[in-house]
This record gives sequence, structure tokens and C-alpha cells, in this order.
Amino acid sequence: MLAGRLARAPDLAARCTRTPPDFNNPDWAALLDAVSVAETRLFRLPGQFATLAELLPGLGATACRQGRALRLLSAGCASGEEAWSLAALALRHAPPSTRIEVLGLDMCRPSLDVARAGKTGAGLGDPLALVPGEILPFLADECRRPRPHPALRAVTRFDRANLRDALPGHFDVIFCRNVLIYLHEAARREVVARLTEALHPGGVLGLGPTDQRPAGLVPLGEMLWRRDA
Ligand SMILES: C[S@@+](CC[C@H](N)C(=O)[O-])C[C@H]1O[C@@H](n2cnc3c(N)ncnc32)[C@H](O)[C@@H]1O
Repeated sequence: MLAGRLARAPDLAARCTRTPPDFNNPDWAALLDAVSVAETRLFRLPGQFATLAELLPGLGATACRQGRALRLLSAGCASGEEAWSLAALALRHAPPSTRIEVLGLDMCRPSLDVARAGKTGAGLGDPLALVPGEILPFLADECRRPRPHPALRAVTRFDRANLRDALPGHFDVIFCRNVLIYLHEAARREVVARLTEALHPGGVLGLGPTDQRPAGLVPLGEMLWRRDA
């Protein structure tokens, strides 16, 4: 697949070798679009979402007590399914008075276009197969076609960002799953340190199944980790 994408832009890689790596340079941006692996699906790794569902009432109550929004980040969101899943879970399980903000960040412009258009359902098979029954109304229409409910769209936005740069503020929940495997070891350590620093006290980090234990966080199971309150 990667070879095919690069074949459609044969001189791109050659042009990039002539300029230093720059996230915003048009050739480099196009190369990053071409090499991004955007595999994702709604409620991927459902056990992790089930554990997070139990934590959201407490996280939401803390955010309300502190007079701020409950903020959730999908770091490496691809076409948005992880961000929509987090938004749906928060709307379902955080206390009703909670103000919710969900942010999806990715470097890949075509994936972000799909996310912003609310076109959910990437991946093989039934795109809703992993979505819990009580969450379905947030993620499917009455004909069971996948689509994010307007209530999710109202609290969710997507931005282009390099996860190696500073993150925009602090979060109660950060999911960065199936992303670190594409980075070299030093970059992985750097990104995990940034994600950890960006957690509010008591905030929760979710990593992917192949990722290493992050330093200084408390394990909650299911590759979820909490920053000490
Ligand atoms: C396999 S997808 C994972 C999507 C989702 N997190 C999931 O688990 O279903 C990996 C995503 O990470 C993004 N990514 C990789 N390195 C990145 C970086 N340094 N900054 C921003 N996004 C990055 C890719 O563009 C791709 O969309």
C-alpha cells in the first residue's frame, strides 16, 4: 500500500531528501500524508473503553468541582474513530453537568479531512461491531449506519499536529494507541513524557498493546495508567 501511494508521487521522496525535515513544508507534509498508517475503528480495544467508562464519573466530577471542562485527547486520531468513541463514552458516563471537550490530533491531512467530515466506519467488517449497545445511539443513525451524533460533533474537534511538539494544554484522558510503534525509541520516550506531563493530576493515559510501561504512572490494567492526584 505504501509503495502504491509513493508511486503516485514518484519525485516526492527525492524532493524531501533535498530539504531538512519540516512538518509544515508542503513536500514533507505530502510525504507524511503518504506514509501515515491510518488503520483504526470505533471502540478498538473495547476492554480499555470498558475500564475507562468506570473512571469517567469520577474524572467528570473532579473537572466540575474544579470549574473546568473534562478534556479528552486522541493523540494520533487517524480518521477520528477513537476521538468519536471517547466523546460518546464521556457523554454517556460523565455526570450530566460535565462540560466535555474532545480533541483529535494527527499529522495526516487526508485522515483529518475524513474525521472533520464525520465519516466514521473505517476498517474491515461491521464498523459498529465493537460499539456497546448503550453507546450505539451516539454513533449510528436509526438505520444503524455509522455517524457521529450532532451532540458528539458539538464537543469534538480535530487539528493537525506533530505529537513530538508541545500539546495544547492539559487533559483528563489521553489515548495514544497504535501510534508509538511508528516512532523510533528516542521519539517514543519523548512523546510519552509529553503525554504524561499533559495529564491533569488523576488523569488517565491509554497506550496500545505493544507499548512499554510509562514511567511514573500508576497501572490500572488494560494498558491504562493514572497520574497520581
Ligand atoms: C494506526 S493509526 C492509530 C489510530 C488510533 N489511535 C487507533 O488506535 O485506532 C496511527 C496514526 O498515528 C499518526 N501519527 C504517527 N506519528 C505521528 C506524529 N508524530 N504526530 C501526529 N500523528 C502521528 C498517523 O498519522 C496515524 O493516523
